[in-house]
Amino acid sequence: MPSLRIRPEAPPILEEWYRRHLSSAVHDISSSGVQPYSFAEIRRLCGIRQQDLDGLVMDDSVSQGGEGIRQAIADRYCGGDADRVMATHGSSEAIALTLATLLRAGDRVVVQEGIYHSLGHYPRAAGCQVETLPLAAVQDGEVAPETLREVITPGTAALIVNFPHNPSGVSLSEKGLHALLTRLDEVGAVLVWDGAMAEVAHRWEVLPDPATLYERTVSYGTFSKTLGLPGLRVGWCVAPPELLRATFPLRDRTTLFLSPLVELIAARAMRAADQLVGRRAAQAGRNLAHLTTWAEEHRDFVRWTRPDGGVCGVLEVEDPAAPDAARTVEDFCRRLLAEHGTLLVPGSAFGVPHGVRLGFGGAEEEFRAGLERLSSFLRATGRRR
Ligand SMILES: Cc1ncc(COP(=O)(O)O)c(C=O)c1O
Repeated sequence: MPSLRIRPEAPPILEEWYRRHLSSAVHDISSSGVQPYSFAEIRRLCGIRQQDLDGLVMDDSVSQGGEGIRQAIADRYCGGDADRVMATHGSSEAIALTLATLLRAGDRVVVQEGIYHSLGHYPRAAGCQVETLPLAAVQDGEVAPETLREVITPGTAALIVNFPHNPSGVSLSEKGLHALLTRLDEVGAVLVWDGAMAEVAHRWEVLPDPATLYERTVSYGTFSKTLGLPGLRVGWCVAPPELLRATFPLRDRTTLFLSPLVELIAARAMRAADQLVGRRAAQAGRNLAHLTTWAEEHRDFVRWTRPDGGVCGVLEVEDPAAPDAARTVEDFCRRLLAEHGTLLVPGSAFGVPHGVRLGFGGAEEEFRAGLERLSSFLRATGRRR
C-alpha cells in the first residue's frame, strides 16, 4: 500500500507533554485551571433540573452561538451586548477563527513573550512580521511609556497579549491597562486580549474586559480555567460584529456550531459564575498562601515569584544562565513524575526554560501532597538553584 504523504508539523510542547504524561500523574500540580466540577455539582449550583435537560431538543444551533449562552456571556462581560459575542468550542476555536480571519501576511503584529502557543502560532502561520513584547516589560502592572512607544509603533496592526499571563501570572493594573489602550488608540492597532484567567486576581481588582473600553478589541474567555469546566469545551470571544460574521465561512467548514446541550449547561453556568468562580478562587487563595510559605522554606532550591493573578506561576528550578536549561528541566520533570508521581510542566513549553509551571488551583489535599512530593525530590537530589 502506498504510504500517506502527511505534512509534518511539530505539535506545541505543552500539549505533547500532557499527551505523554498526564495519565501517569498521581498528583497534578501543573495546571493553569482550577479543580473541575462534577456534573452533579454543576446541576446543584446552577439549578439545572432533570426536566430542563429532558425538554431540550437536540437540533442544530447557530453559527455565532445560541441566544441564551451569548446573552449570559454578554451580561457578565460586555454590558449585555450579545451581538458582540460568539460562543465557541473552547477559546481555542475563538482564537483560531478570529486570528485566521484578522491577520494577513506582512502585518506587523506584536506578540507578548512566552504566550500561550496558539496565540503565537496564528500570526506566524499567516506570515505576519512578528515582534515581541518582552514579558519583563510589565513591571508592577504597567509597561513603561517609552517601551510602549518603542514596541507599538505606527503601522502596527495588532498586539496579542494574555493577562493574567499563563504561566507567569504577571498582570496589568487598571492604570497599566488604560496606558496600553491609549497607545494602541494612538496608532490604531487592534488589541487581541486573552483573559482566560481574568476572574482570579491577587494584586489588583479583576480588570474590566478591554472590549468594553476600546472598540478595536478581540477578547477571549473560557469555561476551562477559573469556572472549573474544562471538559465542557466552551469559550467565547467579544469582538466587533463584522469580525464575528467574517469568521462564519471558516466555521462553516470546521465545527459549524456548538451543541445545544452544551450551550444550555454553559448558559446556566455563566449565570452562576459568581458561585463557581468564588469557591475555586477561595481554594486557590488558600493554596497560594500555603505555597508562599513552602517556597520560602525551599528558597535554597527554588525561586518563586508571586503571581498577580490566575492560578499558576513559574517556579525557577534552574539558574537562568545554565547551559541547556531546557533539557535539564525537562529531565527534572520526568524524574519527578516517574519517582514521585507528581506532574509539572517544563518551562520550555512557554519560553522560560529554567522554570516549571506550577498550578495552585487544584484540590487542597492533592495540591499539598504534590508539593510534599516535590520537597522530597528536591531534598533527595540535593538540587540547589
Ligand atoms: C491562555 C490560554 N488561552 C486559551 C486557552 C485555550 O483554552 P480552551 O480552548 O480550553 O478555552 C488556554 C488553555 O490552556 C490558555 O491557557
